Amino acid sequence: MTDQTAASPRVLVTGGAGYIGSHVLHALTDAGIPAVTIDNLSTGRREAIPAAVPLVEGDMGSAELLDWVMRDHRVDAVMHFAGSIVVPESVVKPLDYYRNNTANSLTLLGACLRAGIDKVVFSSTAAVYGAPESVPIREDAPTVPINPYGASKLMTEQMLRDAGAAHGLRSVILRYFNVAGADPAGRTGQATPVATHLIKVACQALLGRRPPLAIFGTDYDTPDGTCIRDYIHVSDLADAHVLALLHLRRGGESLLLNCGYGRGASVREVVRTLEEVSGEQVPATFADRRPGDPPQLVAGADRIREQLGWVPKHDRLDGIVRSALSWERSLEQSVGQAGALGGSASRS
Ligand code: UD1
Repeated sequence: MTDQTAASPRVLVTGGAGYIGSHVLHALTDAGIPAVTIDNLSTGRREAIPAAVPLVEGDMGSAELLDWVMRDHRVDAVMHFAGSIVVPESVVKPLDYYRNNTANSLTLLGACLRAGIDKVVFSSTAAVYGAPESVPIREDAPTVPINPYGASKLMTEQMLRDAGAAHGLRSVILRYFNVAGADPAGRTGQATPVATHLIKVACQALLGRRPPLAIFGTDYDTPDGTCIRDYIHVSDLADAHVLALLHLRRGGESLLLNCGYGRGASVREVVRTLEEVSGEQVPATFADRRPGDPPQLVAGADRIREQLGWVPKHDRLDGIVRSALSWERSLEQSVGQAGALGGSASRS
């Protein structure tokens, strides 16, 4: 570890034990890019981190820890994932979200400036758009978040822009649409036991690990009455992060990019796809609309292809659903073998 640290700079990945962060660590490792991660393991899992990546277990809000890690590991760039991501929770605990997402990002950017680090790839979200009037949603659409989660991320975007203007910090802001699926090699996936994401919930319902899926709203103004989302495979998203890092390391300018395929699928389509993939019926009930759900969220997805040369490899819905199901089955086996998932071992 010391030799490698001396040989080449590392990218600091915050939240590398989480769902998306761990996929990115695997993508970086596959590409031969040295990394180090900080994670407090509050929601992430140690096993999700590739063996080659050092884990610094600690609090992202500690300026001293960040200063030390950046110096000790010769960090030249940061990818920032650590944070809280559950929209309904953000409504009832808004200050947690402003602390974990906004205030910690402020601390991180301060550490970057002290360490002379001028490259940041930031996990933002389509939640910054709120309930858009039309789809596809381009990056220049108005940003009017309707929950503290989206607002907390939008504030970090603003800090990045302002720090760019004042201090020359360059950033790639990636606004994720609906991230789903799992590493096709089965190395990591979404392990949160109490997930709220549709595809994860549907897989758990199929496997009998939770009550039937509630389909929230069948009277939307969409072709089949259910909400439409742009589901993106987490491994394609991870590739986009690697490309974003390489762009910044080449001296590229700051970018703001949607991460989606530019194509939507309805809740019913997702359920049907899971049934086709598994050959089983998904236990499901029809429920009222979930408050705050916009009918359609589909990315305007041209810019990321143009700017980063990103070419998705896993953009079929059946492949996304298949990988999610296969990951869920592997968790089921490990639960069966180990007797438990490990209580707090959820991940973001
Ligand atoms: C939102 C956020 C996203 C965040 C995610 C998880 C926005 C724009 N996006 O996505 O950034 O990462 O929440 O917190 O705010 N559904 C059901 N039954 C279920 C679960 C979901 O019918 O049990 C439906 C929802 O009504 C929605 C679709 O499936 O129409 C997708 O929902 P979900 O997976 O929770 O993601 P979003 O709410 O779209």
